[in-house]
Amino acid sequence: MGVESQASSPKDVFVGRVVSNQSVCRDQWRFEAAFNDFPPALPGQFVEILCADPLEENRAGGAFLRRPFSIGGLRRIGQQAFISITHRVLGIGTRWLSQLAPGDQISFLGPLGRPFCIDPQRPAALLVGGGIGLPPLIWLTEALVQAGKQTIAFAGARTADLLPLTRVPDVPVSGTAPSLAFEEFADHQVPTVVSTDDGSLGAAGLIVEHFERYLDQADSPGESAVVYSCGPEKMLAAVARTCEKRSIPCQVCMERMMACGMGTCQSCVIRTHDKEDPEGWRYSLCCTDGPVFDGQTVIWD
Ligand SMILES: Cc1cc2nc3c(=O)[nH]c(=O)nc-3n(C[C@H](O)[C@H](O)[C@H](O)COP(=O)(O)OP(=O)(O)OC[C@H]3O[C@@H](n4cnc5c(N)ncnc54)[C@H](O)[C@@H]3O)c2cc1C
Ligand code: FES
Repeated sequence: MGVESQASSPKDVFVGRVVSNQSVCRDQWRFEAAFNDFPPALPGQFVEILCADPLEENRAGGAFLRRPFSIGGLRRIGQQAFISITHRVLGIGTRWLSQLAPGDQISFLGPLGRPFCIDPQRPAALLVGGGIGLPPLIWLTEALVQAGKQTIAFAGARTADLLPLTRVPDVPVSGTAPSLAFEEFADHQVPTVVSTDDGSLGAAGLIVEHFERYLDQADSPGESAVVYSCGPEKMLAAVARTCEKRSIPCQVCMERMMACGMGTCQSCVIRTHDKEDPEGWRYSLCCTDGPVFDGQTVIWD
């Protein structure tokens, strides 16, 4: 996989071919597709995927509107970009994606949205991801390591078989201590703390509680870090509050139902603080002002 340097690149529709598609855990799938001349993209950006055969006029068996998905990885060989997407099966679109086979055609619109921003001044990075929010953080890990950041990941799920990570054989998952037990982070030598709400894997309880406890330790790099988070909105709100209390910069990758993904339909609003507005707040668009926001900017309802 590679991480690229240009954030604002032209977006377009790209039709590519599926290279692989595999189940990663219960109800979650990861596929990779190859595209010619896909523009530069950065972690946090997303694509709108046509979850239907691009050649079938009547979209039989698929979804009519495109669906948004974070780019979970991007590597290039010559003119070809290999993009991976990890998704959880929820409805018609994601069910269609789970049935893709190598050689199938797929249409992406992108790259879209604002990416995570790597702060050159801060030497450490802490990632906090929940469930299907982990894929963009996995790709971001590459960029952080390339930028020389001391990185630790915190990954949570409701239960063991909803964690979209691959175990490294023979490496134990050790309670609240960071370990190299999960391939996606261990490949970059990034230690990971894993928790499940029901204690079926790693530490028991919410990942935010373990993250907070870690920040309270004397040798935690919290004060010199930027926190990057993606996952359920309650988790993002808790991460943002934890960071605010400790004055740690925090970037959150948000989700809204999206139709166009490009700022036209106004269906994806998020309330954000705005000192210049007489009311002190305004609506921002998740698709074009985000999906990555400063955690202190979002109004957490
Ligand atoms: C910027 C962005 C990035 C995303 N990245 C990913 C990703 O990497 N992997 C992934 O699995 N999903 C991701 N999502 C969510 C994904 O877009 C939805 O899961 C998908 O659109 C569902 O489509 P569907 O046709 O399968 O479900 P639908 O048939 O449209 O809906 C099925 C059910 O799921 C609910 N639902 C649909 N979308 C959402 C949502 N966004 N949040 C909560 N409930 C929803 C619907 O209300 C309905 O009850 C992302 C969303 C955004 C906005
Ligand atoms: S999805 Fe249409 S404006 Fe954001």
